[in-house]
Amino acid sequence: MINDDLDRILIDRGAIAERVRALAGEVAATYADQPGGLTLVPVLSGSIIFLADLIRELPLRMKVALVHVSTYPGSATTPQTQRVVLELSGDVKDRNVLIVDDILDSGKTLRRVQAMVRERGARSVRSIVLLRKPSKAPADVPVEFVGFDVEDLFVVGYGLDYDDLYRNYPHVGVLKPGLIR
Ligand code: IMP
Ligand code: MG
Repeated sequence: MINDDLDRILIDRGAIAERVRALAGEVAATYADQPGGLTLVPVLSGSIIFLADLIRELPLRMKVALVHVSTYPGSATTPQTQRVVLELSGDVKDRNVLIVDDILDSGKTLRRVQAMVRERGARSVRSIVLLRKPSKAPADVPVEFVGFDVEDLFVVGYGLDYDDLYRNYPHVGVLKPGLIR
């Protein structure tokens, strides 16, 4: 069972749920005066659980356009060369875009997606992340909404993976030391 591979829970599912509801409130207030609503751009695959929980707390008119950028292929735990696996699956021209990602680490992924969305003519671009490693997050990658600041550790669960595993772990946790190659 996957629980056997986890060393400890960093943020439990109850705390995540509570924070996601509060974030949804902030987002809803930000876009309340936009009759056309917004387009969410989730960065696959890490943002899937966060996206699913967040949008069900958001009573706004919204569209979803997917993007898939791979920065940590396979069992890498440090950023590698980026690969755009899927370009934006929907049109964002003149739309208010909210990019959704699981974690802001080096910022390489968000920098790339923010540029992509701007190039496609979005009217406004904001970003939301569940987690941020403040010791590494660069100043030139603005993120308007942040769930939790975490230490510079490799974390898994609630969508975040190691070697594509553990996305279904319901909490955010840290793997047992021996498991990371
Ligand atoms: P960045 O481009 O370095 O900011 O990293 C962002 C992407 O790398 C995220 O979307 C995650 O998918 C992945 N990532 C970064 N840190 C972690 C981590 O601690 N655990 C799992 N995935 C991570
Ligand atoms: Mg990711």
